[in-house]
Formats: sequence, C-alpha cells, structure tokens
Amino acid sequence: MVYQVVVALYNNTFFRKVICQIVCLTAQKPWINIAAMKSYKHKAVEAAQFLKDHIEKLPQIGLLTGTGLGESATALDISLSFEYKDIPHFPATTVESHFGKLLFGSIRDKPIIAMQGRFHLYEGYSPLEVTFPVRVMQELGVKTLILSNAAGGLSPRLQTGDLMIIADHINLTGSNPLVGPNEESWGARFPDMTEAYDKKLITLAENAGKDAGIRLHKGVYAGLQGPSLETPAEIRFLQTIGADAVGFSTIQEVIAAVHADMQVLGLSIITNVHDPLAPTPAVVEEIIAVANSAAPKLATIIRQVAIKI
Ligand code: HPA
Repeated sequence: MVYQVVVALYNNTFFRKVICQIVCLTAQKPWINIAAMKSYKHKAVEAAQFLKDHIEKLPQIGLLTGTGLGESATALDISLSFEYKDIPHFPATTVESHFGKLLFGSIRDKPIIAMQGRFHLYEGYSPLEVTFPVRVMQELGVKTLILSNAAGGLSPRLQTGDLMIIADHINLTGSNPLVGPNEESWGARFPDMTEAYDKKLITLAENAGKDAGIRLHKGVYAGLQGPSLETPAEIRFLQTIGADAVGFSTIQEVIAAVHADMQVLGLSIITNVHDPLAPTPAVVEEIIAVANSAAPKLATIIRQVAIKI
C-alpha cells in the first residue's frame, strides 16, 4: 500500500517538481532550480523593458567599470542616468567606491550603456545576481562588452598605475554563472572559452594605446572570490600558474557575456604590485586613489576602441 502511494506520487509531475525545489533549497542553491532560472530570465526581460521604455536608441556597446573607475565613464556623452535602485530587479551596490548608476549615452553616435559600479561575489551576491546586468544588456541587444577592474600586479613587468589588457583569465572564484539549467534562448550549454577576450578588440586597444602614448601590457587575470587579500603563498601560487594580475571581479560577467555571444574587452588598472619576497600590505584607500588617477587613461582607451568598433 505504502509502496503504491509512493509510486503514484513519484509519477505525478507536480509532486516531483515540489520535491526537486525542496532538495535545491535545502542544498542552499536556489539558483539551480528550473523555476528560479525562468523567473531570473523574466526579471532580466522586465528590467530591459523598463529601460527600453525610457531610452531612444538601443545600446550596441556595454561598459562595466569597477573600483574607483566610475570616472572612466567620462569616455561617454551621457544622455540619461538611472540609480540602480530605480530599475526593476536590479541589485544595489554595497561598495563605497562604486557609484551605483546605469548610464545611457554615446561615443561619437554609437549608443552605449555603462554601469558605474558592479556586483561582487564577496558582497554575498550569487553568480546570477553578479551577472544580472550582463543579461539585461543582452536583452537590450548589446554585442560588445568592455569591462574594467582594479587588480594587483603579479608579473614583475607590471608597475603601480599601469594598464593591462586582459588576454585570458583563470577562474579561481569557485563559482560559475552558468551552473544550473541552461537558458537556451541566451546561449549554449557549454560555451567555448578559447577566445573569451576578443582578438580584434585587443588589437584596437593596443593601437589606441600607441596613438595616445599610453603604455599597455597584456596578460592573464586571475579572479578570486575575495574579500581577503592574497597571502604571500597565494601570490607565489598565482605567479606559478601563469597569472599576471589578480582581482575579485570580472570573471563571472565575462563568462555570461561569452555565453551571450558578446565580444569582450577587459582592461585592468594595476593599483598595487605583489612581491612575495617583500610582502607589503595592500591599502584599500591607496588602491582606490591609484584607480582614480588612472581613470583618464582608461577613458581614452575605451573611447578610441568604441569609435573604431
Ligand atoms: N588583490 C585583489 N584585488 C585587488 C587587488 C589585489 O591585490 N588590487 C586591486 N584589486
């Protein structure tokens, strides 16, 4: 009798879904259930619709800036701005050096959307929340994503204040925004990452640097979850595995953007350098100050790249 009841319940689709939801929730991974993924997509569509109702032109290029780099939005002629809190379903930024504004504008007639301030795993956001703005950009039809971040230098070639074009990355965050049911309308189940950072955009950035007399390095960015900074042993490890710079952002957004079939350009400002033989504490105020003072260089590169896209 008991067996028959169990079999009858198991054969009932609704019952199976309820069990699946309970299992997902008890595993503390609510983002992996199918219903949650559908509602996430729905939220991105709603946020995009809200923005479409206010803007005149759909953006082609998305900019995503980080620590102290909000000023690099000066690359843009701004026509409209929204506080994140006024956009349906948008998370709120909790980091002081991040502005929390979504800007619309143009660079020489090219319509642009720019996020001043991003969401990080270390703030407690899930990978889906961190990448929500990328999904909204995808829904708006953005084809190119330019990201900037502050990073610690690991390669002896790098000096404080330098700019580094991200040629590739190493995901050490322990997270991936594509875990869970794949939203087929957004991209493939197993996106290829052999050229996550677009070669043509890298060349455009290199040329922009040459034209403007700005020294640009190229290297591998290692992304950690943070927020604690790296120990000397971790620095040695990161150097050994081929990382040139380290930071707490960018990786999740780039994975979502590649899944969305966007062309990606990543730029790091080296705000501090790590020498495992002479470890010095990284001071957050100094990191922000260096990022701020390097922002004009970054704005020049972004502007020149956007013009040439
Ligand atoms: N580590 C991690 N993130 C960073 C650093 C660093 O040294 N500098 C700027 N962001």
